[in-house]
Amino acid sequence: MNIIAVKDQVEGGKKAFELIRQGIEGNNARVLGLATGSTPVTLYEEMVKSDLDCSHLIAINLDEYVGLKETDSQSYRTFMNEHLFNAKPFKESYVPDGMAADADAECARYDQIIANNPIDIQVLGIGTNGHIGFNEPGAPFDSTTRKVDLVESTIESNKRFFEKKEDVPTQAYSMGIGSILKAKEIILIAYGEAKADALKGMIEGPKTEDCPASALQDHANIYVIADEAALSKL
Ligand code: GLP
Repeated sequence: MNIIAVKDQVEGGKKAFELIRQGIEGNNARVLGLATGSTPVTLYEEMVKSDLDCSHLIAINLDEYVGLKETDSQSYRTFMNEHLFNAKPFKESYVPDGMAADADAECARYDQIIANNPIDIQVLGIGTNGHIGFNEPGAPFDSTTRKVDLVESTIESNKRFFEKKEDVPTQAYSMGIGSILKAKEIILIAYGEAKADALKGMIEGPKTEDCPASALQDHANIYVIADEAALSKL
């Protein structure tokens, strides 16, 4: 793993953007796997204020809450529109459909999208429990897209975006760990002390389903961008 220590989220966003620009302009990357959460926000800010042309790119997002319409203010589709796509239109952008009537069909549809558009660069945050996307502890390392139950600590962490805890969906569609591992390059970003245990588990811990991010130890081309607090337990 290539670990890039940064002083704060602003510098982290700039570093992540440099890697993405280099991938697109230098290595012909065309498909970006994208993440939500507070962590990638500064990266998206860098993309928006740059002159990077995204009109030939395809974006495939990691996950979406079950039961939220794409127009819901808390849906991950809305998050992506507001932070990136409205300002930088992509040729195509995909987010799972949280309102899909048939969950199995939705997962198969999403896996087909990933198969048709192999991911060149995958951006990841990390949950305090080591989750990536919404692959919670116990998720198989060879998993593909599926409907998952969110664990209590994730609902607790994410309630800050909702009016009350009861409004946080309890399920999500998530790209699987197996699909994430197929990305040619991965950029995982982590800030703050709350992520220190997860980062230690991912980098130094045993490779175990108890820490989903530890699956990334097998990946040949991964950059970890993190601040001092997140790196403090390494
Ligand atoms: C969410 C998302 C993840 C994200 C994580 C961390 O639950 N599904 O993709 O990485 O939580 O969020 P944050 O960046 O806000 O700390």
